Amino acid sequence: MIDYTIYIVDDEKTIREGIAFEFEDDYTVCTFETAEDAIQQFGQHEPDLILLDIELPGMKGSKAIQEFKSLKSDVLIIMITAYEDIKLVIECMKKGAYDYIVKPIHMESLEITVANALETVRLKKEIWELKEKQIRENLPCFIGESRAIHDIMAYIERVAQSPDTPILIIGDTGTGKELIAETIHHKSPNFKGPLITVNCAAIPKELLESELFGYEKGAFSGASTLGKKGLIEAADNGTLFLDEVGDLDLEAQAKLLRFMESGEFYKVGSITKQVVKTRIISATNKDLDEMIHKNEFRKDLYFRLGVVKINVPSLNEREEDTLLLARYFLETYNEKFNKNLTGISEKAIDLLKLYVWSGNVRELKNMMERAVLTAQGTELTPSDLDLEKIERGRVMEGLEEDRFPPLPPTGIDLVKVRAALDQFYFGQAMKMANGNETRAAKLLNIKHHTFRYQLKKLAEE
Ligand SMILES: Nc1ncnc2c1ncn2[C@@H]1O[C@H](COP(=O)(O)OP(=O)(O)OP(=O)(O)O)[C@@H](O)[C@H]1O
Ligand SMILES: [Mg+2]
Repeated sequence: MIDYTIYIVDDEKTIREGIAFEFEDDYTVCTFETAEDAIQQFGQHEPDLILLDIELPGMKGSKAIQEFKSLKSDVLIIMITAYEDIKLVIECMKKGAYDYIVKPIHMESLEITVANALETVRLKKEIWELKEKQIRENLPCFIGESRAIHDIMAYIERVAQSPDTPILIIGDTGTGKELIAETIHHKSPNFKGPLITVNCAAIPKELLESELFGYEKGAFSGASTLGKKGLIEAADNGTLFLDEVGDLDLEAQAKLLRFMESGEFYKVGSITKQVVKTRIISATNKDLDEMIHKNEFRKDLYFRLGVVKINVPSLNEREEDTLLLARYFLETYNEKFNKNLTGISEKAIDLLKLYVWSGNVRELKNMMERAVLTAQGTELTPSDLDLEKIERGRVMEGLEEDRFPPLPPTGIDLVKVRAALDQFYFGQAMKMANGNETRAAKLLNIKHHTFRYQLKKLAEE
């Protein structure tokens, strides 16, 4: 059975005690002589139901309703009143009281009224729990088994808990920055609030301020006559996700900084200050350090946005995740397209490991979607994945087509030609592998230590 807490607020001792006696066996009951006392204790018990006398010394019942509701908007309040107060009762019902009982109190009818009220509380709780469960279960799935992703997940669990802390997510395109922002929102205490995403790169410079902060009616020519709520206001009690934050110009950066420092802002064309409580998560694939160096990004804003910083490594830096993600997307699209693919062929797995994912997880996801949709066999093959193009043989085919300059009659220095070829392919491999030697060695099909040795030699030449 749920343990409900009932507050009884009445200045008449006999009434307080009489009601308390009736209910204290089944519920937690607290009695108070004044509304002020009850308000003071409110945080300790978070009552489900309040029996509130209308005529109280000090704060009157009708005013107390508002105070209680501001502390807990769904608390149920039953007014205790005398017949002659009926006008007041109507006023209280308008302010959100749930029901009323009339003095002298008839205990049996009070029991029924209380039982009905608590049933309402129970149903509300149940609906809320279901809703909460649904929201939680719709949690975005952030997949990964690499050390880097494990660390990021553990870090997210911690930082999500403090809903005021700004978080800056940095990583290449398609690495999952937006997904991380969604995950943080869902794990934070204000997950029931809105998550508003703003693509800073997509909003024209002239409109950015009014989009973010909103505008007063008639603020500028072309403004809607009704005025408009800005995205920051829409994110109140939730999360504001500023995607591509590196694309904000300096003027917008200054305005954002001012808002972040005070939590206050003005709508365009308004002189009324507004206050909003929202967590700001921002993301970028730009090198903000370099932008700061070039005076294109404000250092103070950078520190403000990045109280907590999350660096998401590219997919090539976490090979363990590639296969796991590929399998995860295979399952996802199997289900979506009603397919029954059993797995990925060994050859295709080798190629997936070798591939340089310049579009990161997004590229892998798109590749898997297309492959699952079009595959005809039971397993995904390199040709389903369109990975044949990266098979090593291709280069050799190209070479066989007489692409080399013919041997001149005076002969060539083969050692030098070989060195030039090495130089060319080593350089390309390192570039494609983003400087990751293990991966670059794989691209050239040579052992890592041989690769390192030859790379060093090439550098010395
Ligand atoms: N670890 C992951 N697990 C599951 N899905 C992922 C993961 N990382 C990324 N994705 C998926 O890959 C796609 C791209 O991710 P997302 O949009 O979050 O990237 P991004 O870093 O915001 O990219 P951009 O910089 O281009 O905006 C999305 O569909 C996302 O759901
Ligand atoms: Mg993104």
